[in-house]
Amino acid sequence: MREARGRAFASTGVGGLDEILGGGYMRGHLTLLAGNPGSGKTTMASQFLYNGAKEGEPGIYMNFVEPKSDFYKNMEKLGMEFEKLEDEGLFEYIEAPSFVDAESLAGMVADTMGDITRMSARRFVIDSISAITGMLTKPETRSMIHTGLLRPLKSMGVTTVLVAELPYGGTVVGHGIEEFLVDDVIILETKEEKGLLKRTFRIPKSRGVEVRYYAYEFVIAKGGVHVMKPLDPRFRGKLEKEKASTGVEGLDKLLYGGIRYNSNVLVVGPEGIGKSMLLMTLACTFSRRGETVVYVSLEESKDQIMSLIQEICGGSEITNINVFATPPNAFTVGQWLYQTREANERIKPGLVLIDGVAALEKHFGEGAFITLMRDFTLLTKGSYQILVLSAIPRVYDALSTLADVIIRMWYDDDRRKVRVIKTRGSNCDIEEHEFDITDKGIRVKLD
Ligand SMILES: Nc1ncnc2c1ncn2[C@@H]1O[C@H](COP(=O)(O)OP(=O)(O)OP(=O)(O)O)[C@@H](O)[C@H]1O
Ligand SMILES: [Mg+2]
Repeated sequence: MREARGRAFASTGVGGLDEILGGGYMRGHLTLLAGNPGSGKTTMASQFLYNGAKEGEPGIYMNFVEPKSDFYKNMEKLGMEFEKLEDEGLFEYIEAPSFVDAESLAGMVADTMGDITRMSARRFVIDSISAITGMLTKPETRSMIHTGLLRPLKSMGVTTVLVAELPYGGTVVGHGIEEFLVDDVIILETKEEKGLLKRTFRIPKSRGVEVRYYAYEFVIAKGGVHVMKPLDPRFRGKLEKEKASTGVEGLDKLLYGGIRYNSNVLVVGPEGIGKSMLLMTLACTFSRRGETVVYVSLEESKDQIMSLIQEICGGSEITNINVFATPPNAFTVGQWLYQTREANERIKPGLVLIDGVAALEKHFGEGAFITLMRDFTLLTKGSYQILVLSAIPRVYDALSTLADVIIRMWYDDDRRKVRVIKTRGSNCDIEEHEFDITDKGIRVKLD
């Protein structure tokens, strides 16, 4: 447990942020965490102390705003239970008075430095320094931060997060000098996008670390702040040898046995051709074999998908197919990604089906669409599962290079035709074949 202390970085406790910062907050650094009202400052600062304490590193939270009981209650809802850590001597909450004069403030800060030494705290948060600096002149603020905080904290090697308030639309934190004094600056913002609340942060200053993206979207959910950044494309995984039968009569023959695990499959064809039917047939096959399935529908309701699946599966009770109806207009890109990733991690399905992905392109635009799809294919690569996307031909070009397997469906006069176009890492029958939609799902006719 204690070996965490030896590392050069203190984990931020925020999913995705450590990688952005090259490992976490650098030990002994002072980070200014500034943000709009309700943007997630307290949540993010708490994750830092919570996760530190869980690794055996004591931390102190000095809060000028929230009473201790409110803080504990709010954090518990997000899954952070500070009470236990406090009992173990790994966490201390200082309820600071919301109004103090400059002199008693200096005394309070000095006392807190004593507390840090007493409990050998490695992590420290002040929420917020705006409460302090609001009572001080600019030179007093400089001296308070520099001499009162920065110097002693650095000499003790304590990693510190200073929360600061930033009004909506505001661009300057406090006296405008705070950002110069600290080592790193993270700004949290909330804005409106298509009627939805979108949360982003940026890192305009990070001493000793290169930060690549200008802004990152994040969500607040169980566990606190989660950064929704694209997965690193260098993380690829590989196709597994084992093939899964599709259970679709005739199709396994075209696929020379089935689909290799860790593949992503694109089913492309015009409206009404039977793409969803194919996906539902696959859902039943995997479900019958005892594998868990996630079915994400972008256009149809959950009830409709469930009842169609019931029919195809033959009425037996289905417990391992999880259907999510996630119309993209109800989410920002990050929120959509979060809930789909979260479901994937929680359920760990063997088969993920995303039906009607063109709706994502239509709503989020081509750039975000490609990022989302790339993310999903990368996610699948490492997790011994199969991902199947269905799409209309309009978005074919954006998806065809990502796909390991492409199944094309089209109308030929009044007949339905299917063809396997590519199967990475395996051979296939590339002849076109006719297929039928039956009440048991898709059936491919072989000559
Ligand atoms: N359990 C929860 N699940 C999802 N979101 C939550 C939950 N609890 C709080 N939130 C969201 O988090 C936001 C508040 O986060 P937080 O208190 O960290 O913000 P803050 O920047 O510290 O706010 P303030 O400016 O008031 O200090 C809320 O506005 C709410 O939208
Ligand atoms: Mg707060």
